[in-house]
Amino acid sequence: MLDTLSGGYENSIKTASDILRCGGIVAIPTETVYGLAASAYSDESIKKVFKAKGRPQDNPLIVHISDMEMLYEVAEDIPRKAIECANRFWAGPLTMVLKRSGKIAPSVSAGLDTVAVRMPSEKTARDIIKRSGLPLAAPSANTSGLPSPTSYTHVINDLNGKIDAIVLGNDCNVGVESTVISLVGKTPRLLRPGAVTLEQLREILPDIEVDKAVLSRPQEGVKVSSPGMKYKHYAPKTDTYLVEGVSQNFINFVNTKSDALAVCFCEESDKISIKKAVYGSQKDESTLAKNVFKVLRDADCFGVKEIYVHAPSKTGVGLAVYNRLIRAAAYKVIIL
Ligand code: TXA
Ligand code: MG
Repeated sequence: MLDTLSGGYENSIKTASDILRCGGIVAIPTETVYGLAASAYSDESIKKVFKAKGRPQDNPLIVHISDMEMLYEVAEDIPRKAIECANRFWAGPLTMVLKRSGKIAPSVSAGLDTVAVRMPSEKTARDIIKRSGLPLAAPSANTSGLPSPTSYTHVINDLNGKIDAIVLGNDCNVGVESTVISLVGKTPRLLRPGAVTLEQLREILPDIEVDKAVLSRPQEGVKVSSPGMKYKHYAPKTDTYLVEGVSQNFINFVNTKSDALAVCFCEESDKISIKKAVYGSQKDESTLAKNVFKVLRDADCFGVKEIYVHAPSKTGVGLAVYNRLIRAAAYKVIIL
């Protein structure tokens, strides 16, 4: 295991880069979630990523770059709006879908003529990209369908023995995956909400549309703009419900349940008399984003029959948290 926590940083960056250059696959920390990286130029390496995760073949990967020069290696016909977004939000948790260049391995894009690109702000990730000289395709480093990994223990639990190495880092600061927007159609489109919020994006892309799949179940047989949105995601094994309503209603509702877990805000925790797990503060949605996947991963350990999660607002980064939770709940929403 490569360790960037207890010294040897330079060494671990070098080893990770060497493995990637030789066609291996390495889990790396990013500011959003841990990613499972492989050279975006090597079809063979990308196939190993799909295999280790058990990922459906038609779900394309995000390519990670360390500087603007690399953007022109991986994408073509880059619109001016994309450069404006890059100037404002990179390095950081924004992914842009653009026209792909011929250099990218076809399996990265899963047959599409586009490529999703982001420049992470996490230093470790950027240093590995720089050192290897490779754009890195990296989906979240979890088993497909499970909550994304926000600490290296999650990666080890899911992928130990299936990947060549993991670069150990701190827990991810953002906690939900990057915002994904498409800039290839006539109108910019939000495909997946994240820590770069819709409100912020509107300042540069006033006409941005929100894809239907952000808040509702994609219909059977209908083509979705982002293939990842059609898969069941993040779900605990225990039957999970998303509950909308003010705190007092949520408290009254869960307190009538006997064999259930309430996933709640810290402000209401004291008044809940059943098993509970706090996922952050109602007043600061970034705390909810940071903990939501950990709470979903731990939820099955409570041994209850049902899980009721108090829904955050759908504004700011709350929209990203809501988007992940509604999938975890298989779209079962209770409105109080
Ligand atoms: O924060 C993140 O984005 C993390 C870290 C590791 O960077 N990565 C991540 O990757 O979340 P993944 O594979 O778990 O999610 C990528 C999402 C999927 O929903 C996929 O369908 C979509 O991006 N995507 C990738 N390429 C696309 C493309 N060309 N067109 C539309 N959607 C695309
Ligand atoms: Mg993922």
